[in-house]
Amino acid sequence: MQRFIVNGGNRLCGELTLQGSKNSALPIMAAALLCSSECVLHGCPRLTDVYAASRILNHLGCRCSFSGHTAVIDPSQLSGTEVPEKLMHEMRSSIIFMGAMLGRMGECTVSVPGGCELGPRPIDMHLSALRKMDVDIRERGGRIICRVSGKRAHGAKISLNFPSVGATENIILCAVTAEGETVINNAAREPEICDLCAFLRKCGADISGDGESRIVIRGKESLGGCGHTIMPDRIAAATYLSMTAAAGGEIILKNACVPETEPFLSVLEQTGCGVYTTADRIYMRSGPRIKAVRDRIRTMPHPGFPTDAQAVLMAALTTAEGTSVFEENIFDCRYRHTDALIKMGADIQVLGKVAVVKGVEKLNGAPVEATDLRGGAAMVCAALSAEGTTEISMINHIDRGYENMEEAVKALGGDMIRV
Ligand code: EPU
Repeated sequence: MQRFIVNGGNRLCGELTLQGSKNSALPIMAAALLCSSECVLHGCPRLTDVYAASRILNHLGCRCSFSGHTAVIDPSQLSGTEVPEKLMHEMRSSIIFMGAMLGRMGECTVSVPGGCELGPRPIDMHLSALRKMDVDIRERGGRIICRVSGKRAHGAKISLNFPSVGATENIILCAVTAEGETVINNAAREPEICDLCAFLRKCGADISGDGESRIVIRGKESLGGCGHTIMPDRIAAATYLSMTAAAGGEIILKNACVPETEPFLSVLEQTGCGVYTTADRIYMRSGPRIKAVRDRIRTMPHPGFPTDAQAVLMAALTTAEGTSVFEENIFDCRYRHTDALIKMGADIQVLGKVAVVKGVEKLNGAPVEATDLRGGAAMVCAALSAEGTTEISMINHIDRGYENMEEAVKALGGDMIRV
């Protein structure tokens, strides 16, 4: 098992080009299944989750190959309708292949994703929406067997009781080739949904309203292939900004999606960091010690503060002047990183969905274990500002979502190696 060794104390200075978004690349790779001809995805991040998605595509008969950051997916020979349990369990988001397979083949067999590091991850909203679209769904021994009643699924009016990102994506993927019109009320408004819809429109889909809470999809008989550039990763942006806020320094993030990162930036500005933006760059300067965030940091669906940035910002605020309060409203178990931060000297009290972070003068390096993707990134963030050496194990979690994090940190002047 590989580990990261981080020696804290160096300021981070320099420029970084952001990777493409993981949470945009994964549904778009699934969407490529719907097309009759080749799709070329540029800016595809090189991540273990992306490779897991490509193994699913290859298993189903879609050739998927990479050349640098370009993925070429040829879905013309699609043959399978069943994703083996082992591949399904490699990543939770494999569930979005369900809508795409139903859209192209009219049937699929997948597995219940089960719980994960973030707590129980139910898919009840995905299933009840697909049932409304005339998909017959049976669950047998952990397998989910789905089949549309006729040749194609049927459009339907669906109201989600929570704007779930994955459920919205699955409905869109099934609806673009369904018969008739599908309306999603209380749809997720995350920028990655808009990127998925932009890709699908290039393939010939008829979708409107993405980015708003009512999305309308008019089904087409078939879709063609296209070329598309994956949007930049706003959570990677939040992560490298949090690292710089914690360690001090000055960075320029290139290839940034600025408006989409705004909900994070507006909170970051409250720490006293100087934040300046252009159309596609974020410049940030942080002094020796940031200030606590005055307002309660509530994670919310977009355009609220993103749950995926909660852990990294918390790591930065452990050494801020004053007390910050977080409220996690999206996932039940998203404070597992706090034990490691406390081990490093942070003063954090968790009570249910609230975490109170009292800024301490300094953290100390310690051996810690990455608990999940963003929690692991938070540990790197804390380690960069800590006194001494931090050894982070279980970094396979971090590799799911960050491309060569140690190279990026090293390029900024941080002392971090992979062993
Ligand atoms: N939920 C249900 N039933 C459902 C679906 C969701 O109860 O049928 C609950 C979930 O348990 C959770 C909440 O609704 O408590 C939000 O889940 P959502 O479906 O919105 O999230 P997701 O699609 O599973 C995506 C991202 C996550 C990100 C969330 C929220 C991808 C591949 N994953 O997950 O990303 O945190 O949206 O923005 O897009 C990450 O990148 O670290 C990550 C976890």
